[in-house]
Amino acid sequence: MLGLKNFIRLYLQSQKLQCCYTVSMFSTKQPKNKVTVSSQKEVFKIGPTFQDFLENSLRSAKNANKYSAESMPDLDHAYLKKEDYQGKGQKVYMDVYGCQMNVNDVEIVWSVLISNGYQKTNKADEADVILLMTCAIREGAEQKIWNRLDHLRHLKKRKAAKNDRRVSIGVLGCMAERLKEKLIEKERSIDIVAGPDSYRDLPRLLTDVTDDPHQSAVNVLLSLEETYADIIPVRVNPESPSAFISIMRGCDNMCSYCIVPFTRGRERSRPADSIINEVRYLADEGIKEITLLGQNVNSYRDLSDSVYYGGISDKIGDTSTVPGFKTVYKAKKGGRRFADLLEKISSIVPNIRIRFTSPHPKDFPDEVLQLIAERSNICKNLHLPAQSGNNAVLERMNRGYTRESYLQLVQRVNEIIPGVTLSSDFICGFCGETEDEFQDTLTLVERVQYQTAYIFPYSMREKTKAHRRLEDNISHDVKTARVDQLVSSFRDGAEKLNQSRVGSVQLVLIEGVSKRSADEMAGRSESNVKVIVPQEEIPVAINNDKTAPIKQGSYVAIKIISANSQVMRGLPLYHTSIQEFFGEEKRKLIQH
Ligand code: SAH
Ligand code: SF4
Ligand code: F3S
Repeated sequence: MLGLKNFIRLYLQSQKLQCCYTVSMFSTKQPKNKVTVSSQKEVFKIGPTFQDFLENSLRSAKNANKYSAESMPDLDHAYLKKEDYQGKGQKVYMDVYGCQMNVNDVEIVWSVLISNGYQKTNKADEADVILLMTCAIREGAEQKIWNRLDHLRHLKKRKAAKNDRRVSIGVLGCMAERLKEKLIEKERSIDIVAGPDSYRDLPRLLTDVTDDPHQSAVNVLLSLEETYADIIPVRVNPESPSAFISIMRGCDNMCSYCIVPFTRGRERSRPADSIINEVRYLADEGIKEITLLGQNVNSYRDLSDSVYYGGISDKIGDTSTVPGFKTVYKAKKGGRRFADLLEKISSIVPNIRIRFTSPHPKDFPDEVLQLIAERSNICKNLHLPAQSGNNAVLERMNRGYTRESYLQLVQRVNEIIPGVTLSSDFICGFCGETEDEFQDTLTLVERVQYQTAYIFPYSMREKTKAHRRLEDNISHDVKTARVDQLVSSFRDGAEKLNQSRVGSVQLVLIEGVSKRSADEMAGRSESNVKVIVPQEEIPVAINNDKTAPIKQGSYVAIKIISANSQVMRGLPLYHTSIQEFFGEEKRKLIQH
């Protein structure tokens, strides 16, 4: 019998479409007893649409009586149009876990849902739909989500018992991608499972499960192209002076411990035009800081014919890595690189602070470093995730560099960007990590003196190379003890760094009223350290008699008066802008 999957495969072959199309068919037994077909619509822009295909194939299949009643998938939705996927005012509540990319993905999801007639609510209790944007990076991250699902199951039951509104529960993001339909097998209150590349499909998935409470809908297709380039995210925190822009998605690196390449798929970059449009839009909205996001943000490689390039300085070349660093993939041919994009953005918005995360150390060629050094609006605060300071561990982790080449890069960064601060990620207790190997990580942290460090106990993830080839043989207690030791060593270095700034004047972007006291304001320095100042009226500019209060979104010149490893305190001097502040700093240097 010619199954639906084969139909689709044959159809695609006949259309000679190059795509990464798969069909996710999922049928649970009671109470979820139907099947949902997930499609990736942009693939069908050329030629007949998926709908045409389904209608035709279904008709012929029905006519030819090729499907038995049981195996016949429910294809009611094949006859639905976009208008049929409208939320009709249903209220959606969303929780977010994991990294900043997930926060930005939530903003993309809001954009998709609101434009399809759904509304936002901040109360889970009054929602028709509850969505969890999930993370799978470590066991602990997933455990938090299981706990939340436990709670939501009770909420759903309570509502059903009271004949209150029916609640659909959706799991989105990396955990959805990792566990796929297994999620529903384990937790039957889940109605929707949607991976990171399927958010455009959410209105359809939601319609399917709303129309039929016994149905569950799964779309875990990973795409080679999806960057949500045309979607303007709806900001989760519209008052914040900072905004995120995703510039690329996915990861091709395959570090042996990491689940991300499996949950986020292959690396792909968003065309510069759409990024620049978003930058301009955010600038018009009054945003003061933009963080460019990507799982490997500095591997950015734009293959589009962007109108924003064309100057003689624009390079089109193959990917090259920092000396001493190697990749698991071959050099990629062509495309404009991260330096080109950063150059364009920083020149378009000279008074907006630019950060980017998460970079990979291999993608910091001199041209990126020089640009950061030259431009006052690109923060001189770089994330150089080291993971370990020991060569054997780095090798087992598949990181593509040695302690020596990493330290050479640190030296190069310091030479080209004077005053730069660094941050890093570390994993403690990776497979087979000996005490001596761990000591190398400790000495690396002491030597480099990081401003910020994210330190994690190793958590074995299925599907990864470490899971297949290595043994998770370091005990939980040893992992935790090493994390504690590394945290304390890192804190010593960070405290020294922060104390060395006492007496200096820093440019701080005020984020809002301090959580500890309503009389104080909190902001962040260029090195991303929290700075607390008293709420005061200060001059509107240097050497100006007029004053104005410090507000959320103000750039303020602040004299640092005390510091510990995490927070600095200061006296606010005057309001300023990035260009004014750094112009002033340069003048002072020239005068001295
Ligand atoms: N793309 C980013 C990392 C994203 S994950 C980069 O390469 O820097 C963020 C961090 O989580 C990683 O840098 C690593 O330190 C940590 N991490 C990833 N997988 C882990 C695992 N299995 N156990 C513990 N920590 C892990
Ligand atoms: Fe994970 Fe490595 Fe990719 Fe970072 S570079 S997301 S750690 S595989
Ligand atoms: Fe987690 Fe996925 Fe981000 S696994 S860290 S949410 S990329």
